Amino acid sequence: MIRLGVNIDHVATVRQARGTSYPDPVTAAALVEMAGADGIVVHLREDRRHIQDRDLELLRKTVKSKLNLEMAATDEIIEIALQTKPDMVTIVPERRQEVTTEGGLDVETHYVKLEQMTQRMHEQGILVSLFIDPDPKMIELSKRLGSDAIELHTGRYCNATTPQEYEQEYQRIHQGVEVGLKWGLKVNAGHGLNYFNVKPIASLPGIEELNIGHSIIARAIFTGLEQAVRDMKALILEARSE
Ligand code: PXP
Repeated sequence: MIRLGVNIDHVATVRQARGTSYPDPVTAAALVEMAGADGIVVHLREDRRHIQDRDLELLRKTVKSKLNLEMAATDEIIEIALQTKPDMVTIVPERRQEVTTEGGLDVETHYVKLEQMTQRMHEQGILVSLFIDPDPKMIELSKRLGSDAIELHTGRYCNATTPQEYEQEYQRIHQGVEVGLKWGLKVNAGHGLNYFNVKPIASLPGIEELNIGHSIIARAIFTGLEQAVRDMKALILEARSE
């Protein structure tokens, strides 16, 4: 059965905008779980623009489903992950100027560092997922360096502006899923997914988990967080049963 991981970074974005103690992503995580999410995702960025160290510490103590920490493979954040021990880390590229994670990880350039980091995570019982473009070479390298999972970047699919581009990006993801499965990797996907574009991705057999943040938190402003999670979960389950 396909699972939904909810990224709650943007609850913290609203808090950080005013430097208040609310809204608290830790409270959000509990509501998200009660609404049926299968996991909680947070990105501890180097610049701490939304999630703070304190959030991660408390989430580790309170999340009952699965805690997935998105992170850049930098020395500081690697040490924090090893101490905090989330269930899984998802390694993403990070650039300070970007609004959000813009492209997949270059597994070829960072192969040795990623391989060493993966070994260290495994020693602590932490699973490793790499956030990559649906590129067969990146998928193969992810397997070779020992990662447990890949998360296919759906951003280009979500941003496609013509039917041709949409079809091309959709097929790339479809093939990426098949290549990942062939290598024995768990295949997840995410980035930019919303209530209007999620179903074709959710319907791809073999995807284990979708990680979705911005659209759910945005909808929660109008519907409440639990309803926003329930609506998304219903869509992805529907896509699988059609
Ligand atoms: N997956 C990864 C690896 C991400 O970096 C992000 C953004 O933090 C997401 C999923 C969620 O993307 P969105 O907020 O666009 O749903």
